[in-house]
Amino acid sequence: MAVVVVSLFSSLVGSSTPSILSKLSSSRILRFSLASPLSSRRRLRMAHTVTRATLGLTKPAYVEVPKIDFSAKEIDLVEWKGDVLAVGVTEKDMAKDENSKFENSILRKLDTHLGGLLAEASVEEDFTGKAGQSTVFRLPGLGCKRIGLIGLGQCAPTSAASVYRGLGEAVAAAAKTVQANNVAITLASSEGLSVDSKLLTASAIASGTVLGIFEDCRFKSESKKPSLKSVDIIGLGSATELEKKLKYTGDVCSGVIFGRELVNAPANVLTPGVLAEEASKIASMYSDVLTANILDVEKCKELKMGSYLGVAAASANPPHFIHLCYKPPTGPVKAKLGLVGKGLTFDSGGYNIKTGPGCSIELMKFDMGGSAAVLGAAKALGQIKPPGVEVHFIVAACENMISGTGMRPGDVVTASNGKTIEVNNTDAEGRLTLADALVFACNQGVEKIIDLATLTGACVVALGPSIAGVFTPSDDLAKEVFAASEVSGEKLWRMPLEDSYWESMKSGVADMVNTGGRQGGAITASLFLKQFVDEKVQWMHIDMAGPVWNEKKKCATGFGVSTLVEWVLKNSS
Ligand code: BES
Ligand code: MN
Ligand code: ZN
Repeated sequence: MAVVVVSLFSSLVGSSTPSILSKLSSSRILRFSLASPLSSRRRLRMAHTVTRATLGLTKPAYVEVPKIDFSAKEIDLVEWKGDVLAVGVTEKDMAKDENSKFENSILRKLDTHLGGLLAEASVEEDFTGKAGQSTVFRLPGLGCKRIGLIGLGQCAPTSAASVYRGLGEAVAAAAKTVQANNVAITLASSEGLSVDSKLLTASAIASGTVLGIFEDCRFKSESKKPSLKSVDIIGLGSATELEKKLKYTGDVCSGVIFGRELVNAPANVLTPGVLAEEASKIASMYSDVLTANILDVEKCKELKMGSYLGVAAASANPPHFIHLCYKPPTGPVKAKLGLVGKGLTFDSGGYNIKTGPGCSIELMKFDMGGSAAVLGAAKALGQIKPPGVEVHFIVAACENMISGTGMRPGDVVTASNGKTIEVNNTDAEGRLTLADALVFACNQGVEKIIDLATLTGACVVALGPSIAGVFTPSDDLAKEVFAASEVSGEKLWRMPLEDSYWESMKSGVADMVNTGGRQGGAITASLFLKQFVDEKVQWMHIDMAGPVWNEKKKCATGFGVSTLVEWVLKNSS
């Protein structure tokens, strides 16, 4: 039996236990790190020098990110011994014949072993295999303590990754409920899958499990330790292939977790200066491929970034313009890419202050979700080190506050490409910061740019909380990014860039205003951004105001990281 082990643990602790190493000496052990940002003492001391990070005396605790071993196994399910055996089943898998026996061979075999209890229990629990359904039975007769059925719905091929990610998340939830140390995951019907789809499926399941187990406890005075230590993935591929894939999955997950931690951190802790510090730390952690350049106010003034600096003007915490650059360790560069993220560490709205029910001002620490996606991708790529591609990670980080030094509604600001903007609403600040960030990105000589931003409430109204809006004039770029999102399982929907709506963005005194009417707000915001992108550059804007945050779990999702990493890999050679 071939076994692959992939460990997930915080790099800040970093040492492996010899017992695990020796027990599995026959297989190569891969480790990857999920570093906890804002967590080491050294980091806090450094952060303190850049900004007033101790407002409220809050200090993030160092919390080790859980380490989970993944093994690929090809064994008979009834032989498996452990806490929970989880089986992903589609609605079709639940079909029964005229004798009320499962038609699916795996379910039938398990059921036979259990004397029909599985069929009985699933009927009693009304489990039909619908997506989102899951049920865990404590059943005697098997080598495992419990068996879980997880519904996959009809499992349409295009949504496959998100379905399998959901399977992993459901297993993580079940493991938490019953405090399982070890689980096995399998599919009732995986025989039909190609070798490649098996790998993609295993990868999606693994990332769902890891990200489902992760809980951010840095700001709680007590943190609970997750019980789950190991996951056996059964029937989804041979060890050697899965080894590589799961190493990659782990790298991506560490980027997603980093992104989540950045977004979860409150604005009194994660100021623009601390965000820049975290970015620099990523660059020095992977200094063989990443470099960092942080521009202060003076440098931004030299570059004439009046639009960005206008937004930053009210804050006691100075802006920091972040530029990381990835270059492959060896070989030529064939594609140059730019990733730009909105980095508002807090958005009060400014003089157009966010008031009234539903404005969510208390959640506006998440307004740097775009930058978290970009920096999370930088961390993942720093570990993956893809060849043939250069990537620029750009964040114009600042805070949108209110003070006597702040921008007034009606002020005219001038962006670094010379265009003038009448600020008719200080709460449309994200686009003002992105304007200068996009000009800067184009000046790096990139061929393609993706920007990500929690840009408009209008996009959340249009697409709801879990789908991001995609705006691009380029069908080619759209194709690339949608292919990437199919692998990552992140939900995107293309929206129109309707040029005739530019009408509402005309100003009497300047080249444009920063806010159109209430209608089509996500579209006019995108048209505004387009003003700051070179025509020869392929550009896409992703409005992730909805999916940045999980309302039910009250925490960040890490949205964007995995799609960006997939996209960069598609552009590597
Ligand atoms: N950060 C907000 C967008 C936002 C709102 C994200 C709600 C998530 C949830 C952005 O800066 C903003 O305030 N946009 C305004 C634009 C308007 C003034 C044209 C909005 O959407 O209301
Ligand atoms: Mn705003
Ligand atoms: Zn904002």
